[in-house]
Amino acid sequence: MNVVVVGSGIAGLTAALHAHEAGHIVTIVTKGALGDGCTGFAQGGVAGVYGPGDSAERHAADTMDAGAGLSDAVAVEVLVEEGAARIAELIARGVAFDRGADDELLLGREAAHSHARIVHAGGDATGAAISRALVAAVRRTRITVTEQAFLADLIVTDGTVRGIRLLIDGTARALVADAVILATGGAGHLYAHTTNPVGTTGDGIAAALRAGAEVADLEFVQFHPTILAEGPAFLVSEAVRGEGATLIDDEGRRFTFDSHPDGELAPRDVVSRAIARQAGVQGSPVRLDATMLGARMLAARFPTIDRVTRKRGFDWAREPIPVTPAAHYLMGGVVTDLEGRSSVRGLFAVGEVARTGVHGANRLASNSLLEGAVFGARAAAALDRPWLRSRSVRLPRPETVPNRDRSAFDRTALQQLMWEEVGLIRTRDGLEHALAVVRDWRATAAAPSTAAEHEDANLLLLAEATASAALARTVSVGAHHLEPALIGV
Ligand code: SIN
Repeated sequence: MNVVVVGSGIAGLTAALHAHEAGHIVTIVTKGALGDGCTGFAQGGVAGVYGPGDSAERHAADTMDAGAGLSDAVAVEVLVEEGAARIAELIARGVAFDRGADDELLLGREAAHSHARIVHAGGDATGAAISRALVAAVRRTRITVTEQAFLADLIVTDGTVRGIRLLIDGTARALVADAVILATGGAGHLYAHTTNPVGTTGDGIAAALRAGAEVADLEFVQFHPTILAEGPAFLVSEAVRGEGATLIDDEGRRFTFDSHPDGELAPRDVVSRAIARQAGVQGSPVRLDATMLGARMLAARFPTIDRVTRKRGFDWAREPIPVTPAAHYLMGGVVTDLEGRSSVRGLFAVGEVARTGVHGANRLASNSLLEGAVFGARAAAALDRPWLRSRSVRLPRPETVPNRDRSAFDRTALQQLMWEEVGLIRTRDGLEHALAVVRDWRATAAAPSTAAEHEDANLLLLAEATASAALARTVSVGAHHLEPALIGV
């Protein structure tokens, strides 16, 4: 079978390697260079190695709790049951997870995990280690790799995906395929502040929407609580709090306990909102205090964060550092079954672009690399099995908007609008306002031709879908938080 994998993070690379090893003819198409994307930036690690007193059942229970009850229990069971095999596979492919003197894997802890169960590599450089190993594994095969290629659209005839349209150096190309596996990541650049690298513009979800694929849960956008509040967005891993660092207000008080009994290790959405509220009250960023961990430990366990914070003028072993939330992960996406099949025949989705049901309303930390590996492998295994599902949906056309004063569209204005109105704390009025503005912009947008214009069109499409989904969910749950005083207005 001729298989095209779009994207080259952990999910795409895993799917490509498994498909190749199963005898399929595989082409990886990627927007930047092979391995660019979110995976390489992941600091925390991969959840799924169980020490004494821990188990897959506990991991599943933590995942369900973090997902605020909206995770799919069967998908979660698959995730935790198959996680060990995928972690072993990463090790076999050359990922050197950190080990102690006894050669046992070192396990970290992050928010909302009841146990330390997260394997990491290079201290806080887990994603980079995984990306390096998988890219090297792909380079050792005969998988065709097409880099700097922008996914303009899916080719669909008679309800079946037949390939993709690409833009390479501004020139349109078509690539025919028997199956397409989307592994294009999320849409962090919908927001003014994000941990995601440039290029994370929701291209795969937008293409799937245009192809009539079912998409769900776009209202669930996870904001990471602790981004360094100085300079370009830089994530300070939750694992730092897992090791004992605290969040303090301008008087040195640990304010997160006002919101949740688990304080700094409460679910991410709770901690992020507590930080945003506190920063609003005090008029300056809250601070992350890691001084109790000591210079030697910080440098050894978190070498990347240590280097970047110092470069930006902070000695985090001596003084608390300013932090603020930023858009981090999209729980929703292209709806798939447990084998990564979307509702459009021949179209698979794996990793952040997919909505497998694992994450519910809020992803548990360090479950995303795991999900990419588990469901990437499952999609590849399903390639030549009978296609069991197909339920395309019709994409609503941009509304014709009556003439009224319009602000001009530019990407920065869209990102600011999304940050303010469709962000951490939402109101019904704000969501309606955002939706109206985005619809104005969409209704007057010219057909895209360059890659940047396609990205803008994708962001606008997703912004409309996200604001609509947020309006449709009238009750606060997980990462979707409506300001209580205004619910139902
Ligand atoms: C982190 O290291 O805090 C991020 C890990 C994740 O998003 O799962």
